[in-house]
Amino acid sequence: MAIQKWLLFVFLHVHLHHLILAQPPDLEFSECGVNGDYTENSTYKKNLNTLLTSLSSKLDRYGFYNASIGQNSDIVSVIVLCRGDLEMEKCRTCVNNIAQQIVKSCPKQKGALGGYTECIIKYSNQSIEDTQSIFSPYFYSSIKDASGSDEFNRELRKLLDSLRVVAPDDDRKYASGNATGPNFQTIYALVQCNPDLSPEDCFDCLTEAYGDMSDCPCNGKKGGRIFTNRCNFRFETYHFFREMTFKAPPAGELHYSSE
Ligand SMILES: *[C@@H]1O[C@H](CO)[C@@H](O)[C@H](O)[C@H]1NC(C)=O
Ligand SMILES: *[C@@H]1O[C@H](CO)[C@@H](O)[C@H](O)[C@H]1NC(C)=O
Ligand SMILES: *[C@@H]1O[C@H](CO)[C@@H](O)[C@H](O)[C@H]1NC(C)=O
Ligand SMILES: *[C@@H]1O[C@H](CO)[C@@H](O)[C@H](O)[C@H]1NC(C)=O
Repeated sequence: MAIQKWLLFVFLHVHLHHLILAQPPDLEFSECGVNGDYTENSTYKKNLNTLLTSLSSKLDRYGFYNASIGQNSDIVSVIVLCRGDLEMEKCRTCVNNIAQQIVKSCPKQKGALGGYTECIIKYSNQSIEDTQSIFSPYFYSSIKDASGSDEFNRELRKLLDSLRVVAPDDDRKYASGNATGPNFQTIYALVQCNPDLSPEDCFDCLTEAYGDMSDCPCNGKKGGRIFTNRCNFRFETYHFFREMTFKAPPAGELHYSSE
């Protein structure tokens, strides 16, 4: 009897442990849309489920997917993007995890935005082009102040400007790099556009996103992220991305001013 109880205990323990491990981690950030709710048995919910369950198999080779399904008031549009330095296998896992977790964060809202540091999702009942009106730029900030913040910001901006020259001509619309800030701090940054943007639109999107910096709580901090609908960037004082090789931009195609 005792041994049976013990075996049952071991079985349950192992089994529960396994179940807990199989749970995807909580999203690192999420925001629910204010564009209304869907109901339990609605076509909208069905369409959303269809989209979410097929996401990871639909990703293109850059870890990107955007699509709309459904008709009239049941149209759901989705956009997903993995960070440009992520291997495909990890990208799929990340997107699978998001698909499972996002509906827990926003269980009835028609629109949602959320993700992990390595992948992000956004969906809504409006076309992706129109989601600007539902989601403002998403800010994420380190709590630590950058020392010598004026000089830090100057060096950060120079680094971001140099990455804005490289990313638009990269296939994945991605670039990363580092610079030396005040007090020998190394500043690391990456910038990324949705891979379907033209080089010009990517450049312009990043310019606009950089312009949001003054509104970001991350202004003057050691780290921060700004996500807009079509591009994003991140900076930290630690090495948070994989080094990749980037092809040099073709001479004379894009110009940027650097002091
Ligand atoms: C999205 O859903 C809300 C709430 O049901 C509705 O008011 C709005 O018109 C919808 N937007 C579109 C583009 O269908
Ligand atoms: C949804 O559908 C199920 C099964 O058809 C039904 O039992 C349930 O009452 C429905 N829920 C609502 C809110 O209509
Ligand atoms: C994907 O987004 C682009 C614009 O970024 C748009 O032109 C295209 O129609 C979208 N595709 C779908 C299926 O929504
Ligand atoms: C800075 O970036 C270069 C590549 O551009 C890399 O070789 C170097 O190791 C990086 N420095 C640090 C401190 O990470």
